Amino acid sequence: MKAYVDDDLCIGCGTCPEVCPEVFHMTDDGIAHAINGDIPEDVLGNAKQACDSCPVDAIDIDD
Ligand code: F3S
Repeated sequence: MKAYVDDDLCIGCGTCPEVCPEVFHMTDDGIAHAINGDIPEDVLGNAKQACDSCPVDAIDIDD
């Protein structure tokens, strides 16, 4: 599974890298970005939690 951040929606609240730093990080322009590859199995739950925690629904997780 892969994670995607819609950079038009992200308001840079910083929650996703806090909840799942293995998958999400903040870029220099203050927007979150997800790793390009597959989400490691052991952090998939955290990645989904980050997705659910985003206040503007900017994160998608799918195949
Ligand atoms: Fe942005 Fe949502 Fe993460 S607003 S910083 S994608 S939790």
